[in-house]
Amino acid sequence: MKVQVCIIGGGPSGLLLSQLLHLRGIDTVVLEKYSREHVLARIRAGVLEHGFAKLMREAQCGERMDREGEIHHGFNIAHDGRVDRVDLLKYSGGNSVMVYGQTEVTRDLYEARDRLGGKVIHNAEDVTPHDIASDAPYVTYRSGEETVRVDCDYVVGADGFHGVSRKSIPKHVLREYEKVYPFGWLGILSRTKPVSSEVVYVKHERGFALCSLRSQVLSRYYIQVPLSDKPENWSDDAFWTELKRRLPSELAARLITGPSIEKSIAPLGSFVAEPMRYGRLFLAGDAAHRVPPTGARGLNTAASDVYYLYHALIDHYRKGDDSGLDSYSEKALARVWKAQRFSWWMTMLLHRFPDRVSYDDRLQETEMSYLFSSETAMRLVAENYVGLPF
Ligand code: FAD
Ligand code: DHB
Repeated sequence: MKVQVCIIGGGPSGLLLSQLLHLRGIDTVVLEKYSREHVLARIRAGVLEHGFAKLMREAQCGERMDREGEIHHGFNIAHDGRVDRVDLLKYSGGNSVMVYGQTEVTRDLYEARDRLGGKVIHNAEDVTPHDIASDAPYVTYRSGEETVRVDCDYVVGADGFHGVSRKSIPKHVLREYEKVYPFGWLGILSRTKPVSSEVVYVKHERGFALCSLRSQVLSRYYIQVPLSDKPENWSDDAFWTELKRRLPSELAARLITGPSIEKSIAPLGSFVAEPMRYGRLFLAGDAAHRVPPTGARGLNTAASDVYYLYHALIDHYRKGDDSGLDSYSEKALARVWKAQRFSWWMTMLLHRFPDRVSYDDRLQETEMSYLFSSETAMRLVAENYVGLPF
């Protein structure tokens, strides 16, 4: 097979890039390790930046998002028994976020790829990039007994944190920056009315909690748990009891509980790999960087990589201009590090660290009271939460 761009990974980054390029006449193939059902069973992000929503519309994938997603003009932080609101509209200069699940984003992208006859290969085993430092790279994968070769101009590694693409960059070229947090998030999805119509981040002495939603009849809740915990050891009752303990009394009294339809634990970590380009391989999304989910930056940062890469590839094919490709890594990383900073800050502000000392507690309290007493501080949070410009 011969295509212009071979994309490894059929998650949101890979599918969105493939859809955008296809609409501009650039031929791609997406190689995904798992089945479509497997990819669509993942419950992850819920909050999309307005810039990401715009990109979905540009990809002709925004119709259902605009119909079923919810625009949120603010979010809340519960602390010390009270709830304070960050007014995104007011402090970001008129912007907001879209509450629409990553699962639905991915479903819409798959449907759009089907509509245009896009090439998406599922269950592609042993995907391997070759000769990425040369002018004639190619990718091989196994389909049953058969080994298939895809010749291409460029390879895009959009295969998530555990993918193969980043690992194909020589060790002496790659610099990796990592921070591991000593806890995870236990998340559940339940067909219940959300406790709040807006997202609520909760700082509590028993640990962090998050009340989020997918719609007014579908709730997503998280609680901070030790890394050693297993989802199967948390009954639904135990989850609801612990969540209630962490909520201010007025919210706890309103909480509607029900059976979980999904339950999983996500460990929290920060990671950046530099550079995001090696020869003819470009990394995008979680393949190059990861953030702790506090602050909802992961998928949104993946989308800004896709935006830069999409424009760089258009300039290459349409105008023979390679300046976008040449500056891709630097440009993407500048925004990636800002998302890292914000996610780290939100994580430090809201979680209970097992090794903290009383000095850390006082700093956390001071940070919180400063945030809600300063319009400047609120502006900083709002402009990061709605998404810095691409
Ligand atoms: P992925 O979604 O990981 O997709 C990569 C794809 O590549 C997968 O389908 C995988 O199967 C495939 N793959 C892997 N290896 C190979 C291989 N060898 N060959 C071929 N294919 C391969 N972000 C936000 O912006 N907002 C939020 O509110 C938010 N909340 C989150 C909550 C939780 C609990 C978690 C865990 C994450 C959250 N995130 C959030 C982060 C977000 O989910 C990720 O950043 C996003 O999934 C990145 O998309 P991606 O396409 O780059 O990578
Ligand atoms: C959700 C996840 C997040 O990480 C976040 O900051 C807000 C919402 C969610 O899954 O809904």
